[in-house]
Amino acid sequence: MDLELGGKSVIVTGGASNIGRAITLGFAREGANITVAELDAEQGEKVAEEARKLGAADIQVVKTDITDMAQVKNMVDAAVGKFGGVDVLVNNVGWDDLMFFMQTTPDFWEKIIKINFIGMLNCTYTVLEHMVKNGGAIVSVSSDASRQGEPREAVYGAMKAGVNSFMKTIAKENGRYGIRCNVVCPGVTIPDMDEEVAEGSMWADRNAMFTEDQFAKIAATLPLKKLGRPQDLANAILFLSSNAVAGHVTGQVLSVSGGYSMVG
Ligand SMILES: NC(=O)c1ccc[n+]([C@@H]2O[C@H](COP(=O)([O-])OP(=O)(O)OC[C@H]3O[C@@H](n4cnc5c(N)ncnc54)[C@H](O)[C@@H]3O)[C@@H](O)[C@H]2O)c1
Repeated sequence: MDLELGGKSVIVTGGASNIGRAITLGFAREGANITVAELDAEQGEKVAEEARKLGAADIQVVKTDITDMAQVKNMVDAAVGKFGGVDVLVNNVGWDDLMFFMQTTPDFWEKIIKINFIGMLNCTYTVLEHMVKNGGAIVSVSSDASRQGEPREAVYGAMKAGVNSFMKTIAKENGRYGIRCNVVCPGVTIPDMDEEVAEGSMWADRNAMFTEDQFAKIAATLPLKKLGRPQDLANAILFLSSNAVAGHVTGQVLSVSGGYSMVG
């Protein structure tokens, strides 16, 4: 099936690690022009090298902290300058450190709010200004923690729920410009190898999140009895980014989590 993403200008935030890396490589296989917006530019360049081999039309890594509006404007200018516009924005950056709410502090809340919500606002706001001219697709990576309460992810889950709601409104406001906006919600999604993650990745030390025993227990609770892999998310995001196959899909929140969350 031709997703007709070849030659499109695509921005992937956090596109150097785990899920973001699989998204970048997925668009590369489709022959897209890719801008990776990354804090970890060194890891970004490694992924860019792989992307070129897989068939990316072109790829650039722009060192960006998405929580800083000036840096986001610079990154979007680089995408528009090099590739003539932005057809697809994937808001993939996210971060959490698992703690019960009463173990967290106001400084921690602020960090979670900035990375998971404000950064997504900065990128969406800046890209929309260009996208309204020719239409496009925005896909934001949320979390199943947004769809049901998740112990040790109180503020993160709340911010991801904000992402879901925000994207629905943006879908309603911008459908008239041919812009579709959707959300994917991963469950626990783990990298295969250490080389797949950035220095600041949530998975840089994967056993700091869960022990191997806990991974096995989580998998056993899922209807599909297995944890997610980055490619599972990349597949759903490629689908939602493609006007050829998802041209009538907007304002939707799709869980890609082995059945962890089932919302009617
Ligand atoms: N992996 C999971 O189990 C899981 C589960 C639910 C939701 N998610 C969501 O999926 C998305 C990707 O998760 P992942 O596991 O691939 O994460 P990851 O930590 O492996 O990668 C995140 C990437 O974002 C980059 N980044 C972080 N802060 C940034 C900033 N301010 N500006 C620019 N780049 C920044 C990091 O350098 C890294 O490359 C996130 O939104 C996350 O919340 C992941």
